[in-house]
Amino acid sequence: MIQQEYRQNSLDYWNNVHKEYNRETIKVDDWLERFDSIIDNSSKPILDLGCGGGNDTLYLITKGKQVISCDQSENAIKNIIKNFPEVKETRCFNMLDGIPFEDDSFEVVIADLCLHYFNDGDTRSIISDIHRILVPGGHLILRVNSINDVNHGAGRSQWGRF
Ligand SMILES: C[S@@+](CC[C@H](N)C(=O)[O-])C[C@H]1O[C@@H](n2cnc3c(N)ncnc32)[C@H](O)[C@@H]1O
Repeated sequence: MIQQEYRQNSLDYWNNVHKEYNRETIKVDDWLERFDSIIDNSSKPILDLGCGGGNDTLYLITKGKQVISCDQSENAIKNIIKNFPEVKETRCFNMLDGIPFEDDSFEVVIADLCLHYFNDGDTRSIISDIHRILVPGGHLILRVNSINDVNHGAGRSQWGRF
């Protein structure tokens, strides 16, 4: 019940955040640059988990990579389809239900600021699913908020823990 409420609140929140974007407003940030050699060497499409507005998707397509962009938010996915026709594929799903790709599908998975919302058990299960869809020796490149973020207070849950 609490988890169901959390899921609905999270979905409503992100659908509201991702109402409408134009491509020109999407800003690429440089955090992925340090992983360029890993990204450049990927011969398979790259998975952008929790893609949101698509800043990492944009970084990857600008580098000529094939990208599969995923999010729980239908609005995020609508914007990706509208703004980035170069994207190979989009998928709308909740990671708490599992990540719907075959084993060994990817050499690189990007998870930017989308894996810090869950309790320990769910986080482990999502990481284990990412491990499953990565080829042996593949890379998960992720960024998470710190619980010690004194500047912005990030790391404290907006919707409570369950
Ligand atoms: C802070 S935004 C990050 C967006 C983008 N990766 C970036 O760094 O700009 C977090 C994103 O994760 C998505 N997300 C959160 N929980 C999710 C879940 N359980 N399953 C799928 N996507 C989820 C949200 O819908 C949101 O778009």
